[in-house]
Amino acid sequence: MFCRVSRNLTGLRGILTGASSGVGRALARALATRGARLLVTGRREQRLTDLVAEFPGQLSMAAGDLTQAVFRQQLVAQATATYGGLDLVLAAAGSGAVGPFAESTPVTLREIFEIDFFAPVELVRLALPALREGRTPAAVFVGSILGEHALPLHAEYCAAKAALHGFVQAVRPELRAEGIGLLLAMLGPTESEFWDNLLAGERASWSQGQPLSAEATAAAILRALEQGRSVVQPGWRARSFTTLARLWPGLLDRAITRKVREPHRS
Ligand SMILES: NC(=O)c1ccc[n+]([C@@H]2O[C@H](COP(=O)([O-])OP(=O)(O)OC[C@H]3O[C@@H](n4cnc5c(N)ncnc54)[C@H](OP(=O)(O)O)[C@@H]3O)[C@@H](O)[C@H]2O)c1
Repeated sequence: MFCRVSRNLTGLRGILTGASSGVGRALARALATRGARLLVTGRREQRLTDLVAEFPGQLSMAAGDLTQAVFRQQLVAQATATYGGLDLVLAAAGSGAVGPFAESTPVTLREIFEIDFFAPVELVRLALPALREGRTPAAVFVGSILGEHALPLHAEYCAAKAALHGFVQAVRPELRAEGIGLLLAMLGPTESEFWDNLLAGERASWSQGQPLSAEATAAAILRALEQGRSVVQPGWRARSFTTLARLWPGLLDRAITRKVREPHRS
């Protein structure tokens, strides 16, 4: 029988991607406040410098492009050297693209898969030897409700997040046998810079409304991590979406197709 491994976050040593904004930055602050020590990363160096200055002695930084294999290797080496081991990998970095597939390009498809699928998965692969030696070790993947039920005009992003969800589901039992937990966070609309940093296209009208704050999202993810859960869907919007998707997928499809066709209002 499977038992959940509850975690005390105090003193845990981790790597956190996507720390320069949004959910990643909120996770960094919440984890540091709880006494974790983290190597935080993103491309925007000044953002990381400012973040590290908020928690001297607890956060260290490495700026770089996570889609580069050499940089991922550097992250694992730096974290284990700085902290003497590794207990957590939190993969929050990600990016989106919006627009009809017929007008999109092979470059966009590859770029989205590089940051939303290959980067988190390969980072965790590299970290496995260190995680095996860690205390209550875990990897956290930030996915999306769109990885559970896809939207038109978001083909690349939905496909990459669906791949990530499939990966986590397949690998979770393999790593559980080694004592490493995998947590998948399926986010709904969340307050962040996501829509400002799209790799292609413009903000979608369906995303307007009342997103959950990055801080509330981070708090829900950390609660789930402490409780040793496998999946978390922060906020009622995310939970309603995935419930609808499972029970009445046709109804959801009709509703979102109508919404996606609405003109953009900012
Ligand atoms: N916001 C939403 O509504 C929503 C909904 C569902 C899922 N999500 C997921 O939530 C996660 C966090 O996104 P967010 O909403 O917090 O958006 P965000 O504010 O745009 O944050 C994205 C983070 O990813 C980093 N990043 C992007 N490309 C990178 C690269 N090539 N190398 C290194 N770092 C990179 C960015 O840092 P730099 O730009 O400094 O590199 C930034 O720190 C993503 O995985 C996203 O797919 C978001």
